Amino acid sequence: MASLSLVNVCKTFKNGQVAVKDFNLDIKDQEFLILVGPSGCGKSTTLRMIAGLEEISSGELWIDGTLMNLTAPQKRDLSMVFQSYALYPHLTVYENMAFSLRVRNVMKTEIDKRVRNAADVLCISHLLDRKPHALSGGQKQRVAIGSAIVREPKAYLMDEPLSNLDAKLRTQMRVELSKIHKELGATIIYVTHDQVEAMTLGTRIVVMNSGVMLQAAEPKVLYQNPINKFVAGFIGSPSMNFIPVWVERREDRICVEFSKNRLFVNEECAKRLIDGDYLGRRVYLGIRPEDLHETGPKEQELKLNVEIKEVLGSEILLHGKIGRNPVCARLKPDFPSEAGKEASIFADMNRILLFDMDTEENILYR
Ligand SMILES: Nc1ncnc2c1ncn2[C@@H]1O[C@H](COP(=O)(O)OP(=O)(O)OP(=O)(O)O)[C@@H](O)[C@H]1O
Ligand SMILES: [Mg+2]
Repeated sequence: MASLSLVNVCKTFKNGQVAVKDFNLDIKDQEFLILVGPSGCGKSTTLRMIAGLEEISSGELWIDGTLMNLTAPQKRDLSMVFQSYALYPHLTVYENMAFSLRVRNVMKTEIDKRVRNAADVLCISHLLDRKPHALSGGQKQRVAIGSAIVREPKAYLMDEPLSNLDAKLRTQMRVELSKIHKELGATIIYVTHDQVEAMTLGTRIVVMNSGVMLQAAEPKVLYQNPINKFVAGFIGSPSMNFIPVWVERREDRICVEFSKNRLFVNEECAKRLIDGDYLGRRVYLGIRPEDLHETGPKEQELKLNVEIKEVLGSEILLHGKIGRNPVCARLKPDFPSEAGKEASIFADMNRILLFDMDTEENILYR
């Protein structure tokens, strides 16, 4: 397996479109690196430059200490799985999976072992004799993943490989990918839109926006300590609530105020707000739906005008407004509430975040 290094990597397409700007990242051997970000932010382009399918406009790509910018894709020893999988229509599933090994003159017995092993892991052993036209979308996708696994390359590059699977199969495949990562000790770079995949699979997550890498960190760190409002809003589902608030001093304590609500912040927040000269100014209060609770001290109470109640079984989501601000709360299913009524919820003041109005930077970033 391999370590990779991207140094000031940029991509500008012929039409002038800048897709990736100054991308710097060291990917360690055996890392499961996740790339996330909104559509068009440059995830696939980054992956395709690593694979060699897209020319790097400027910057350097190193694989295991060797500069790879000009190395042909097939000589980089990387396996790529695309969102739209390319299978050979005239070959069976077995032959499709064996193909890349055949062209490398791997011994027949070794090919057979690897193909059957991969088919077993991916639950497609019963499909080995079929041709692609006789497979469902999800089955085709698993064959494509299988073709990548059998290669045992230096690293795997995967671009939304589970996007065509139904929810159940997706969960199952997520667990399988995790196992494959551990068993093969593989280095994986993985693009996804799925929050759960990003949080559960990744040893590290990279958040991109408009071709720029905003933050690279372990999932838990990214969740608890986002660098700015964009990352805070992008990681977590439903998204963090953002409310514009005034920072004030009342009763010799520091609080944030908005539409007749007042919340006193804890000591650490107070210190940061004073040090950052935020008294009397406006900031964004950030609070996740799961950090709004059913009970709590009176001074942390907020009145939510419930507009929609979503019952999800193990929890409920209340969507509504506090003053004019849209807010979502994730609560226990037995919480008494209904659309059109007011509900008392309580903000966990040790979990809030605060963001600068202009720069959108996290004022509490550590
Ligand atoms: N061949 C191309 N020529 C010009 N512009 C391109 C080309 N390929 C991609 N782009 C542009 O580069 C930007 C990044 O595209 P990219 O495919 O990397 O996004 P992405 O993050 O993978 O998005 P998605 O989540 O929708 O797959 C987009 O604005 C896209 O329109
Ligand atoms: Mg893409």
